Amino acid sequence: MAKKIVLAYSGGLDTSVAIKWLMEKGYEVVCFMADVGQGADTKSAKKRALKIGASKCIVGDLKKKFVDEYVFPALKTGALYQGKYNLATALSRPLIAEAMVAVAKKEKAVAIAHGCTGKGNDQVRFEVTFHVKAPSLKVIAPVREWELTTRESEIDYAAEHNIPIEQTKKKLYSIDVNLWGISVEGGKLEDPCFEPQSDTFINIKPLENASSKAQHITVTFKNGIPVAIDGKKYGSVELVNRLNLIGASHGVGRVDMIEDRLVGIKSREVYEAPASEILYAAHTALEELVLDREVRKYKNFLSERYSELVYYGLWFTPLREAIDAFIDKTQEKVSGEVVLKLYKGNVIVCGRKSPYSKYKKALATYGEGDVFDQKLAKGFIDLWAMPYRA
Ligand code: ARG
Repeated sequence: MAKKIVLAYSGGLDTSVAIKWLMEKGYEVVCFMADVGQGADTKSAKKRALKIGASKCIVGDLKKKFVDEYVFPALKTGALYQGKYNLATALSRPLIAEAMVAVAKKEKAVAIAHGCTGKGNDQVRFEVTFHVKAPSLKVIAPVREWELTTRESEIDYAAEHNIPIEQTKKKLYSIDVNLWGISVEGGKLEDPCFEPQSDTFINIKPLENASSKAQHITVTFKNGIPVAIDGKKYGSVELVNRLNLIGASHGVGRVDMIEDRLVGIKSREVYEAPASEILYAAHTALEELVLDREVRKYKNFLSERYSELVYYGLWFTPLREAIDAFIDKTQEKVSGEVVLKLYKGNVIVCGRKSPYSKYKKALATYGEGDVFDQKLAKGFIDLWAMPYRA
């Protein structure tokens, strides 16, 4: 009997070719397809995998786990890699890799494989998780190893081996989709001066076509987690999907950045993440109201570190878990409502309220009912300046 390998299969060209390539290396290939809300046709992709020769193709619905255990913790932390990228792809990798390890154990596989290139971050995120969760599994990265160095040669290989594919020799961009975001890279975007054209807009409306009417929405949070839109409760996956639709219609959630990959390459990335942009704005606005100054500051410092851990593939580490525990403590009072206005790519916070608000009108007001004793300010400032006075 052939040794078994579990392959992270997307239905795309690389991983379709990888099935055959691994079979030729003597493996029985079990495919694992993760549904993280990419909206692709998993049924026909599964059919194709079996036709190519995979002995099984398991589809795992990971959407709820993704949002509850990966996306919302990152939201609570406020993590944005290099201040801009919400880590949509990065967060999905440890989740998918962990699910693959479970399949590998169940199937008694001896090896595990993914379709990432040797230039990206995703190979690191997959493999670190494999090493942490199943150190004895052999890891194979066909795309890093094979002689098929161009897209054309992969397509020729597919034709020679009767591999059914949907792709053509021309491919405009490399696109990764899940329900927290879409990343578009490669092709013409490799020129950092080239303005992304309409063919790079996947779900978001370009500003020219975005709704010309502003829309107000209210998002309700409980312990740092969004639970309702306009007073109506939603499950976590539905809530994100709904905000993606609303935000996209207003052109909200585009990011265009030069990003530093872990392997030392700068790359030009275009992202779409409407729900994320709305929720980060709303969550931050609520924290401004309920957290004290020192916690906010300390939390900001941790959120940057957290974004690096996620980006660098270090999800399953003691530091990430410890930061999550700290963050959960900070979120105990992050409950309340935020009103936002969406208009032509903008997310504008218009109002916020919470039963735990630390805002005291009687202290802040310049009008009636002021209780702040302004005479105390002089002594405060005298002492504040004392160490620096000549
Ligand atoms: N640069 C992003 C990251 O490393 C996205 C990579 C997504 N991959 C893709 N084929 N577009 O997380």
